[in-house]
Amino acid sequence: MLLCFLLGLWVVLQVVSGQNNSTNTTLPSTNITTPIPPPLPNVNINPVTIASSSFRLQLQSHNKTLNNSFLSALHEGAAIEALGYYHFTTPDQYNTFTLNTTTYVCTYDNGTIIPCNPSAPTNSTPPSIGVPGTLSWSLPAETSSGNGSLILEFFPQELRLVPHGVSSNMNFAVIWFPNNPDDDFLGGPAQVAFDSEGYMNMQDDLLSARDAARAPFGEPFGEPKAYYRWFVCANTWFEYYEWSHLIWVSGAGRPDWGDVCDSVKVKRVWV
Ligand SMILES: *[C@@H]1O[C@H](CO)[C@@H](O)[C@H](O)[C@H]1NC(C)=O
Ligand SMILES: *[C@@H]1O[C@H](CO)[C@@H](O)[C@H](O)[C@H]1NC(C)=O
Ligand SMILES: *[C@@H]1O[C@H](CO)[C@@H](O)[C@H](O)[C@H]1NC(C)=O
Ligand SMILES: *[C@@H]1O[C@H](CO)[C@@H](O)[C@H](O)[C@H]1NC(C)=O
Ligand SMILES: *[C@@H]1O[C@H](CO)[C@@H](O)[C@H](O)[C@H]1NC(C)=O
Ligand SMILES: *[C@@H]1O[C@H](CO)[C@@H](O)[C@H](O)[C@H]1NC(C)=O
Ligand SMILES: *[C@@H]1O[C@H](CO)[C@@H](O)[C@H](O)[C@H]1NC(C)=O
Ligand SMILES: *[C@@H]1O[C@H](CO)[C@@H](O)[C@H](O)[C@H]1NC(C)=O
Ligand SMILES: *[C@@H]1O[C@H](CO)[C@@H](O)[C@H](O)[C@H]1NC(C)=O
Repeated sequence: MLLCFLLGLWVVLQVVSGQNNSTNTTLPSTNITTPIPPPLPNVNINPVTIASSSFRLQLQSHNKTLNNSFLSALHEGAAIEALGYYHFTTPDQYNTFTLNTTTYVCTYDNGTIIPCNPSAPTNSTPPSIGVPGTLSWSLPAETSSGNGSLILEFFPQELRLVPHGVSSNMNFAVIWFPNNPDDDFLGGPAQVAFDSEGYMNMQDDLLSARDAARAPFGEPFGEPKAYYRWFVCANTWFEYYEWSHLIWVSGAGRPDWGDVCDSVKVKRVWV
C-alpha cells in the first residue's frame, strides 16, 4: 500500500517536474525490451563503365619522324589492328580513342542509387599516376542494312598487349574485339592509365621483382607504381603488314629485337 502510494507520488512528481521543465521529456516505459537494431540496408553493387572524352595519342621522341606524330589504328588483318606510327596527322577515326574505366554504383532497397565510395570496391590509385582503364577504339565497318544497301557502323574494340611467343620481351599493342571467345591467344584487355601530365602508363603494386622474391609470403605488394616502357619499332611485323609498331617492353630493358626501336612517351591530347 505504501509502495503504491510512493510509486503514485513519483509519477505525479515526474509529470509536475516535466511540466515545469521547458524540454519535452518522455516518461520511461515500464516494459523495457532490448531494442532491435534496424536491419542493414540491402544493397546491390554494380559495375558501371564510363567512357572518357575522345583523345588522340601523341608521341614524344628524339626521333624527329616520330616526334609529335599521332598513333593510329593500323590494319593487320580482318578486324584486327595494331597501334603504331602513321604519317597522317589530321584527326580522324583511326587516331581517336577513349579510356573506359569502371566505377561501382550501389542500389539500395529504398531506391537510392549512389556511388559506393568509400565502403565498396574503389580504385585506390593515387590520382597523380591515373586510374587504369581499357583503351577503346571504334572500328568503322560497312554492314548490310538488310535491303541490299550498305550502312557504316562502328564496333568498339580494345587494346591488348600481345607477345610474339615467350622468347621476346616485346609486346605488340593490338586492337581487337572485347569478350571474343576466339581470342585466347590475344590475352585480355590491357589496363592503361594517364598520369596528371597525360602520359600513358601501366601500373602494378608489386615491389621490385628482387624485393618480391625476398619478401615473406604475402608481402611483396606496395603502392601502385607507374611504368612507361613504350617504344616504336620500325619495320616490324605482327601479322601481314610491316609497320612502325608501338611496343610495350616487359621489364626494364630495351626491345630485344627490331633493328630500329625508339623510346617514346605517349601523351593524351583531348580532341
Ligand atoms: C519550475 O520553474 C520555475 C521557473 O523556471 C522555478 O522557479 C521553479 O523552482 C521550478 N520548480 C521546480 C520544482 O523545479
Ligand atoms: C529538465 O529536463 C531535463 C531532461 O530530463 C533534465 O536534464 C533537466 O535537469 C531538467 N531541468 C529542470 C530545471 O528540471
Ligand atoms: C511535447 O510532445 C508532444 C507529443 O510528442 C507534442 O505534441 C508537444 O507539442 C510537445 N511540446 C513541446 C513544448 O515541445
Ligand atoms: C512487454 O510487451 C510485449 C509486447 O508489447 C509483451 O508481449 C510482453 O508480454 C510485455 N512484457 C511484460 C513483462 O509486460
Ligand atoms: C619534339 O617536338 C617538340 C614540339 O615541337 C619540341 O619542343 C622538341 O624539342 C622535339 N624534340 C626533339 C628531340 O626534337
Ligand atoms: C536509402 O538508404 C541509404 C542507405 O541506408 C541512405 O543512405 C539513404 O539516405 C536512403 N534514402 C532515402 C531516400 O531514404
Ligand atoms: C534501306 O533501309 C534503310 C534502313 O534500314 C533505309 O534508311 C534506306 O532508305 C533503305 N534503302 C532503300 C533503297 O530502300
Ligand atoms: C567503352 O564504353 C562505351 C560506353 O560505355 C561502350 O559503348 C563501349 O562499348 C566500350 N568499349 C569497349 C571496348 O568495351
Ligand atoms: C625514326 O622512326 C621512323 C619510324 O619508326 C623510322 O622509320 C626511322 O628509321 C627512324 N629514324 C632513325 C634515325 O632512327
